[in-house]
Amino acid sequence: MKEPSIFDQALITGADGMIGSYIDFGIRTNHRSLDVTNLAEVLKVCGIHKPKLIIHLAAETDVDHCEHDVTHAYQVNAVGTYNVATAARIVGAKMVYISTSSVFNGTKIEPYTEEDVPAPQNIYGNSKYFGELAVMGILREHLILRICWVFGGGPSKDQKFVAKILEQLDQPVINVVGNKRGSPTYGKDLVAGMRRLIEEGRTGVYHMGNFGSPTRVDIVKEIVRITGSNAKVKEVESSFFGTSNAHRPSNESMTSKVSYMRPWQEALRDYIETEWKK
Ligand SMILES: NC(=O)c1ccc[n+]([C@@H]2O[C@H](COP(=O)([O-])OP(=O)(O)OC[C@H]3O[C@@H](n4cnc5c(N)ncnc54)[C@H](OP(=O)(O)O)[C@@H]3O)[C@@H](O)[C@H]2O)c1
Repeated sequence: MKEPSIFDQALITGADGMIGSYIDFGIRTNHRSLDVTNLAEVLKVCGIHKPKLIIHLAAETDVDHCEHDVTHAYQVNAVGTYNVATAARIVGAKMVYISTSSVFNGTKIEPYTEEDVPAPQNIYGNSKYFGELAVMGILREHLILRICWVFGGGPSKDQKFVAKILEQLDQPVINVVGNKRGSPTYGKDLVAGMRRLIEEGRTGVYHMGNFGSPTRVDIVKEIVRITGSNAKVKEVESSFFGTSNAHRPSNESMTSKVSYMRPWQEALRDYIETEWKK
């Protein structure tokens, strides 16, 4: 009989979210079946399944909500990750933690490398950085994958930037903030890249955005091009959309020490043409 692979023996937290929709292996848990803020529950579920791999996706990902409810942000993103890392250590599982470009302060001109030192500027980034420290401190067998500006999940799950733009394509003008740069990440590509890193037995921190460092304006222009929309793209100040609770770094772009991720334009075209076809 064939030996089960590490993927057959995986447990996923927060599997009902955008990125979880691309994971087609392992035991899927969600907020109802496994609340990561509850250490006893995390230890119990991991004790029952004894996974060899834990992919920890569960998080409070609403950046403004984190700023508004600081206790909740740290409870889910920092304490929740500490709980999962503790369980991984007890059952002897490798842990994959999905982190964020928001751990950086955003003042660097060039894209951030894995060698750059985190200095988060908002509660979301800081709570996710605490999560990184917990994983590094508790487990040797870990992967920390930093991503940025995720798109994925299609019309039913995507509530982020790309989905918001796709919903405005019949407008005459699309307004977009001009001075923000990042590394858009297609959830499907992240999961494929993560599988490869696991298969290769890698550990440590990796940046896993799609290749390139566009501005928000570049992304909107590319969406307009891909879809053939007649909308005009207008660059505006952040204040155009009202005040936001959380500081948004100007530069969230990253390079990676591995070249597993295709260019963002290719990934975006694939996403729109496969998952948003009417
Ligand atoms: N989306 C991005 O742009 C982005 C960028 C950088 C990093 N990341 C990281 O990527 C990972 C996956 O994000 P995603 O884009 O898939 O986000 P998502 O769609 O918001 O999914 C997160 C999931 O976590 C669940 N969750 C929240 N609190 C929980 C708790 N206490 N216990 C268990 N589950 C809980 C949520 O369930 P409910 O909705 O039912 O609460 C949701 O299904 C996160 O760690 C996030 O920080 C995302």
